Amino acid sequence: MKQAKLKQAPVPEYDFTREQQKNVYLPDEDTFLLMDAIYNFCDVKVNSALEIGPGSGVVITFTALNFQLSTYKARDVNPTAVQMTNETLVRNKLSPNCELGDMFTDLNQKYDLVIFNPPYCVGTCESLGVIDKALSGGANGREQIDKFIKGARGVVSEGGLAFMVAISANDIKDIIKCFDNEGMQAEVVLEKKLPSEHLHVLKIQHQK
Ligand SMILES: C[S@@+](CC[C@H](N)C(=O)[O-])C[C@H]1O[C@@H](n2cnc3c(N)ncnc32)[C@H](O)[C@@H]1O
Repeated sequence: MKQAKLKQAPVPEYDFTREQQKNVYLPDEDTFLLMDAIYNFCDVKVNSALEIGPGSGVVITFTALNFQLSTYKARDVNPTAVQMTNETLVRNKLSPNCELGDMFTDLNQKYDLVIFNPPYCVGTCESLGVIDKALSGGANGREQIDKFIKGARGVVSEGGLAFMVAISANDIKDIIKCFDNEGMQAEVVLEKKLPSEHLHVLKIQHQK
């Protein structure tokens, strides 16, 4: 892992209502680490991007601005997150291209850059509110991560990249092995140890 002399990604403008503050995952350490990883380790030409689970919308907005993209899309299962992401995009003079949607369902296009900061916490979100779906990833925190691993090959263009956040409790070694089984090569490009969890950002590409 190369972590020396990182450039810090510029954070786009965003704001939120009381309802959004209550129901949307707002930018946090993992969000900023993900943007820093994209900013420092995206070493391919990117013409299009997809973010799964944009929450506040700052990551897809940063990506669209930084790579000057005309083709980008975001989708979230949380309607309030969809609304906030579209507001963040518009606030930064971009088109509101976020839709309500579950992971890769009914996507018929491949993207050069695919981004996911999943609900990675260990625990269940059964009968919990919508904000918990932003956090809780089931028994080992892998519910949505495993869906992403299975589908990534079908949505990342040849020569393209994906960036995904995970924590130690998700079993990083096993995640890399599972990507490998799906024909994708994954490596950790950034890490940050917090008191509560050990964040990792994985860079994923088609096996050569
Ligand atoms: C940890 S938050 C990350 C939000 C934002 N990307 C960030 O980095 O701050 C996870 C987001 O994924 C969304 N999400 C969870 N499962 C999803 C799925 N299957 N398809 C689309 N979005 C999903 C949640 O609603 C939430 O907004």
